[in-house]
Parts: sequence; C-alpha cells; structure tokens
Amino acid sequence: MDIYTIGIEDQLSLLRRKASPIQDITAETAQLAEHMVETMIAGKGIGLAGPQVGLLQRIFTVQIDEKPMVFINPQILATSPELSSYEEGCLSIPGQYADVKRPAQLQIQAWNAKGRPFTIEASGLLATVIQHEYDHLDGVLFIDHLSDRKRKKILGKFQVTPEGYPEAE
Ligand code: NI
Repeated sequence: MDIYTIGIEDQLSLLRRKASPIQDITAETAQLAEHMVETMIAGKGIGLAGPQVGLLQRIFTVQIDEKPMVFINPQILATSPELSSYEEGCLSIPGQYADVKRPAQLQIQAWNAKGRPFTIEASGLLATVIQHEYDHLDGVLFIDHLSDRKRKKILGKFQVTPEGYPEAE
C-alpha cells in the first residue's frame, strides 16, 4: 500500500478529511488490517491509520513492541488530566519530528480484525500513539498540536503554505 504524504496536494486533502465507520467487519476488513500492518512495519512506523493509505475508514494499526494491534471504529472513553510529552513523527510527514503533549493515560474501546470488541487502558508511548492515530481518523495531524510557527516551518519543508493547508473536516 502507498503511504499518503502531505507534500502531494490530493493526498494532503484526503489526509484532512474525517473517516467513516466501518459498517461490517468482514474477511476483507481483516485482510485490509493485515496489509496495513505490513505497510506500517515496512515503513518503520509504530502506527498507521486508514487515511494514510488513502482509505477514509475508521481503522488504525499500532505496534509498539511485539504484537501488532488493530483498532476498528475506536472510541476514546476517557483520558487522564495528566499530560506526557513525546517526540512524535508521522509516516505522512516524513523526516519531521516535534514534541507533542497529550493525556498520559486513556481508555479506549474498539473492535479487532475478527470483529470482537475490546477495551484497554493505555499509558506511556502506547497512549500517545493511539491518540496520534485516532486524530488521523478526524483529519488531524500531529503538527496541528504545534505552534503556528513550528507548523509553518514543517509545512514549508513540503512546499505547503499555511493557506494551502486545508482545515480538518
Ligand atoms: Ni501519523
């Protein structure tokens, strides 16, 4: 699967769009999840969301240590008031990294690739990656959490002007 990046206008506009829920989790969905995991690993990423491979569907994959995880139609149920900061990057914004503060812990409910619902509590890097990927499903990129100056600087590396950067919708 090709990974969409912000430097290509059509791809950027898709990355800014809100993804839709997956109506039925079928064998096709499981295959899609498998391809996304392969693409994430090949790209040396630790997370990948549907819009990043051109699919406006609410699915993302995460791999922190061993087992890859698949989140379909996720809902973040709760987040902690405490924040933590990690240096984030994104396969759709290659080569750019910046510190982002997010809730340090969260509870999330989703369905796996077999169509089974699950709820987990996450903290540390896993909590950050989940929130980063969840953002992608709403067209939000990690640079949206930065100051205007920092965002402009990163966009500039891809020849995107602040005016040429569409609103998330
Ligand atoms: Ni990303």
